Order: sequence, then C-alpha cells, then structure tokens
Amino acid sequence: MTRFIAPSILAADFANLGRDIEMVNASEADWFHLDIMDGVFVPNISFGLPVVNAVKKLAKKPLDVHLMIVEPEKYLSRFRDAGADILTVHIETCRHLHRTIEEIKELGMKAGVTLNPHTPAESLQEIISFVDMVLIMSVNPGFGGQQFIETAYDKIRRVESLIRESGTKAMIEVDGGVNLDNAAKLFASGVNILVVGTSVFQANDPRGMIHQLKESGQVKDHRLT
Ligand code: DX5
Ligand code: ZN
Repeated sequence: MTRFIAPSILAADFANLGRDIEMVNASEADWFHLDIMDGVFVPNISFGLPVVNAVKKLAKKPLDVHLMIVEPEKYLSRFRDAGADILTVHIETCRHLHRTIEEIKELGMKAGVTLNPHTPAESLQEIISFVDMVLIMSVNPGFGGQQFIETAYDKIRRVESLIRESGTKAMIEVDGGVNLDNAAKLFASGVNILVVGTSVFQANDPRGMIHQLKESGQVKDHRLT
C-alpha cells in the first residue's frame, strides 16, 4: 500500500528555498506539495507559476500541486509546463469538474480533486471513478500551521468506501495539521499520502521528522478503529 510523505513548501524558508528543496531531495519524502493560493478562493496569497518552475529545476521528486484558485481550468496547461506532476483542484471551484479532470489527465498529469472540510464525501459520488487522487482537507485551506479537524477521520472512512464501491484505485491524501501525533492513525485509516508543512519545516531536524512520519506508516493493520 502506498504510504507517502509530501512536505508542503508553503512552510519552507523562502529566503533559502534551494536549501529546503535539497533537504527534501535528501530525505525519505516522496513528493513536493505546492500550495497555490489566489486571495479569492482562500483568504491568502502564496506563490505562483514562476516558483513552481524554480522548484521543478531542483526537485528530484514529483510535484504535487494543490490549486486553491478560482477558475483553475484556465491554468491547467501552464501548471503542467511549470512542472506539475499531480494537479489537484477544489470541487468547490469547478463548474464542470469532469471536464477539468479529463483535461488534467489529457495533459499528462495525475488528476486530484479536493474537498473543503464542510464539503461532504458523498459529493464525490459521480467523479470518483475518474480521479487519481482525493485530497481531504483537514483544515480550512489558506494557511499553514492550523489545527487538525478531527471529523476528517470519518470523512476518510466514507471516501474510502466510495473508492472501494466504485472499484477504482484513487489514492487518498490528507492536508492540514498533520504531525507525529496523528500520522500513524491517518495511515492506519487508509490514507496514502500525508501532506506535512509546519511539523517538518519547524522541526529541529526536518529530515529526521520526515523519517519518523514515514515510519509511522509501517503499521500492519489497515484500520485502527
Ligand atoms: C493549507 C495548505 C496546506 C498547508 C499545510 O491551505 O493546503 O498544504 O501548507 O500546512 P500544515 O502542515 O502546517 O498544516
Ligand atoms: Zn495543500
């Protein structure tokens, strides 16, 4: 079973971004997670295409790009050209979600769909068989360093059932407030990819923290509860 760690560059030191990218390259992390915020869909502005392009030049691992922007369909090919390997759009921002998901795949990327904390798992019913990944937000998107919303566990269970019932192979990613206290339970609940920002980049030993988070995925049981 896939159990990946995707450090979120949002929490890196942008004045030393090259150094932090090399840290992730040298670590046991699997993907780079890049948060694109437009100040409209979410109340914050992060970074855009030139930064994705710069990360791509140094990164030795796939770029997992999380679009928190309105009208994401306008920018799909530009994010592909900037280096995105996995491109995730919010269900709340897509008027024609199926079309957008198909376009992402036609452009040669893996396609993800993500849900805000208030958006029910059941809203994935008709799209689940078309996506490569479901990203469950465990905080309200817009900022790093927020507290994990505990109801995410129940949503993970319901998304996992939908995936099982649809017979597809979509992976489950969780983003927001992930740390050593909840990583093992999340992996054991069926999560495939953990996005981790603050807990990695604020750690005294970021590589060691990534190692410990990765280790927490070595649980035997598929479910703890
Ligand atoms: C929140 C972002 C997250 C964020 C996670 O809007 O999507 O990826 O960087 O940061 P932490 O791990 O600090 O909650
Ligand atoms: Zn994110």
